Amino acid sequence: MMNIKANIVYLNGQFKPVEEATVSVMDRGFLFGDGVYEVVPVFGNNLLRVDEHLRRLQNSLDRISLLNPFTSEQWCQIFSDLLKKNQGDDRAVYLQISRGVYPVRDLKIQAEGSSQNTADQYPPTILAMVLHIIPPDLEVLSAGISVITVDDFRWNACDIKSTSLVANVMLKQQASSAEVADAILIRNGLVTEGTASNVFLVKDDVLITPPTGKQLLPGITRDLVIEIAENNAIVVEQRDIQQAELFSADEIWMTSSTREIAPVINLNGEAVGSAVAGIMWKRVMDLYQQYKELLRQQ
Ligand code: PDD
Repeated sequence: MMNIKANIVYLNGQFKPVEEATVSVMDRGFLFGDGVYEVVPVFGNNLLRVDEHLRRLQNSLDRISLLNPFTSEQWCQIFSDLLKKNQGDDRAVYLQISRGVYPVRDLKIQAEGSSQNTADQYPPTILAMVLHIIPPDLEVLSAGISVITVDDFRWNACDIKSTSLVANVMLKQQASSAEVADAILIRNGLVTEGTASNVFLVKDDVLITPPTGKQLLPGITRDLVIEIAENNAIVVEQRDIQQAELFSADEIWMTSSTREIAPVINLNGEAVGSAVAGIMWKRVMDLYQQYKELLRQQ
């Protein structure tokens, strides 16, 4: 869960209170969702896997033909300044880059002196802000969540961390209407991901998650969970997961920067495993917490 406290945000080169940070109605982020974003968790004053987040940002920018306005060092300087201005315990840095403000509403990308749409004539709109995260209470988290499966009708470019999130909003709303915490998305009979998280299942002590590709976001938490598991002699398979496998899984988890590792105890009204957070979840969650603690103390 996140909320914005009294907040100093970074917008286009300036730090200002969130109430004073405004963007034109002609911004392509506003008109088209023509932009990308990242959410980087912060423990203590240390960013979790910032290089990986900035690599994924670069991939998102490349995929939509938008130049990265900053080097990694420049991004890190902005994050560091922002974190100093927004003290707190567990936080996350949210950053967003849109293609900026054009004088007319036109889908075409205006590239100066180039037939290629890689250089933009208009400066991008760059926003970074701190989200204050309420860290998941371990007891509440271990109670588990209920979810439903829904049809993944999103586009075939889900590896882009795009601000065009209306499909995710609609899918999340399907879960809310069914009075459950979230939805597991199914495309052509295969599990893709959650509305804002990746999906893992445990079967016979093997940890299984779908491979990356255009159908899902390559989660930084996903990669960290795989790394932690493999370093601790847990067998991990990255392979397609048939929808039917969900119903015979011993455990199901949903992972993200803000949610960490959430155990699913009920799927479509049916118990998952023994309807409590599983043994493998406890083990990997414990290792994940140790990783966080080390980062906090750095
Ligand atoms: N969302 N899949 C989707 C569709 C997501 O939106 C997210 C994260 C993930 C998990 O990625 P990561 O482990 O890097 O957080 C997977 C962020 C947290 C958000 O939109 O707030």
